[in-house]
Amino acid sequence: MTKEDLMARAQEAAGLAYAPYSNFFVGAAIETNDGRVFTGCNVENASYGLGRCAEQTAIQKMVSEGVKTFARIAVFTRASPPSSPCGACRQILFEFAPDAIVYMTNHNGEVLESTVRALLPLGFGPQDLKSTT
Ligand code: THU
Repeated sequence: MTKEDLMARAQEAAGLAYAPYSNFFVGAAIETNDGRVFTGCNVENASYGLGRCAEQTAIQKMVSEGVKTFARIAVFTRASPPSSPCGACRQILFEFAPDAIVYMTNHNGEVLESTVRALLPLGFGPQDLKSTT
């Protein structure tokens, strides 16, 4: 799949976002190492603190379908410049794929490209729990 295809899947997912409180519609599309795609959108709640980010929805879908790592993730918003994943999402992405590529894009076709590790320098992950002496 091209990166344009993956970003298109993220845009499509943003169209399904449930964001009546923020009106900030986010879509994410994760591509696994074997080419499967898991999409997600943000899902808000009248009890505001219970809202879920799009990236987290996509991760929950991926893991609950038996996949524990991924190669790339695209995140779509209508922000310019494109929004990057929030701090909590960076941590959740880092758990499964610190070296994954992250595309951040918007309705204007602007694209920023990074990696999970670059977005979360010195990130805390599963390896840290094995490093006690
Ligand atoms: N949001 C995401 O879905 N992903 C992010 O990385 C940043 C924020 C959502 C949460 C909330 O529903 C809305 O965007 C405004 O913060």
